[in-house]
Amino acid sequence: MAIFKAPRGTQDILPAEQPYWRYIEQEAVDMYARHGYGRIDTPVFEATGLFSRGVGQGTDIVEKEMYTFDDRSGSSLTLRPEGTAPVCRAYLEHGMKNLVQPVRLYYLAPIFRYERPQSGRMRQHHQFGFEVIGDGSPMVDAEVISLAWNFFACLGLGGLNLVINSIGCRECRPVYLDSLTAYYRTHVDGLCPDCKVRLAKNPLRLLDCKQEQCQPVAAAAPASTFYLCSDCSRHFASLKGYLGELGIPFSISHRLVRGLDYYTRTVFEIQPEELAGQSTIGGGGRYDRLIEEIGGPPTPAAGFAAGIERIILNLKKQAVEPGEKTSKPVYIAYTDKESGPEALRLARRFESRGIGFILAPEEKSLKAQLRQAGRAGIEQVVIVGAEELRQGFYILRDLEAATQENVAMEALPDVVWQRGLKRLKNC
Ligand code: HAM
Repeated sequence: MAIFKAPRGTQDILPAEQPYWRYIEQEAVDMYARHGYGRIDTPVFEATGLFSRGVGQGTDIVEKEMYTFDDRSGSSLTLRPEGTAPVCRAYLEHGMKNLVQPVRLYYLAPIFRYERPQSGRMRQHHQFGFEVIGDGSPMVDAEVISLAWNFFACLGLGGLNLVINSIGCRECRPVYLDSLTAYYRTHVDGLCPDCKVRLAKNPLRLLDCKQEQCQPVAAAAPASTFYLCSDCSRHFASLKGYLGELGIPFSISHRLVRGLDYYTRTVFEIQPEELAGQSTIGGGGRYDRLIEEIGGPPTPAAGFAAGIERIILNLKKQAVEPGEKTSKPVYIAYTDKESGPEALRLARRFESRGIGFILAPEEKSLKAQLRQAGRAGIEQVVIVGAEELRQGFYILRDLEAATQENVAMEALPDVVWQRGLKRLKNC
């Protein structure tokens, strides 16, 4: 008798792994509800045309990776190979353009791609993603990027890099593609066989070829950002300014083009510092033409998705235990008026890390503040004091254990966050 196994590129999620999944799902649900996103679940399969038109005929996903089948009535259906086109289909189908714009939606969903399985690359994987539909401003791009960035920070993942690029719009992209194609034609002999095909079919994809022999050619290729029209150029400049305001570090790579055809203007990826092969943890961008491509009116939109299996690989690599954030907020006390602004700055750092806090009332003495924290059942109190600030630390007091220690200012949110985690039971 044949012994059945899970199909290649799929996996069972056993009880011991479940805490990681619940941890990520809980953070997604909490964080996105806090920012006005509604959850959407779309069917596991859709009409094949939605993806061939939406994602693009010349992409690897549509050409080589879709699980497509005819049902018993002969309709061609495809298991969802990505989440954005189905969400846009639902936006149109349910008349969401009549709601207040933009509409903010998030999803957690299984995704199916016939890829060569390896660590972090599955045939069935799961994505957490979100979309902001109905607003073309660069502020939305900044919102999407900062939520994606903060999501990983709230999970406790560090060591990530944000890479951005702008690949222009229907006005300026053709000019860029002409120049890119002309450049590659002069190097055609040294290209891998796949790139020779890309040159004819989808030249933008030449830039993210991973073959060794194509690296020098791609590295010296013309950059799309030099060919942007004035609108795209302004959009990109505003986005960079907003990211600066938000204090989110980024680099620009002219080779970042993404593997789906629907992107316009902004594209971005979040990658672990030690980038190996398939390790991009999440990516997204703006897709102002997708809704038109699938039969709707012109509707600008932007979004992001991350692979849950890859998030878990990174959590394990960084030894981050899945946990549940304590429901108890941290109390921020301060010893004198002079330290008030620093207490506010600390509150902002907690906010961006998803750590709940209560800021002590200004008029109370430190003793009264601590009494108030004790009565509120608080476990951790940070004391911000002028003298300690001069020396570069805060005092962290554990009211339950009745202990206290000095913690370097930079490290405090990490320390507080780790202490606030409570282990989940495995069942
Ligand atoms: P994507 O880059 O194709 O984008 O996939 C998003 C994330 O899913 C990747 O960064 C990666 O973490 C994970 N992923 C992709 N393929 C696999 C695989 N075979 N095995 C494991 N994990 C994988 C999209 O799908 C777009 N829909 C993202 C988006 C949303 N753009 C705008 N809105």
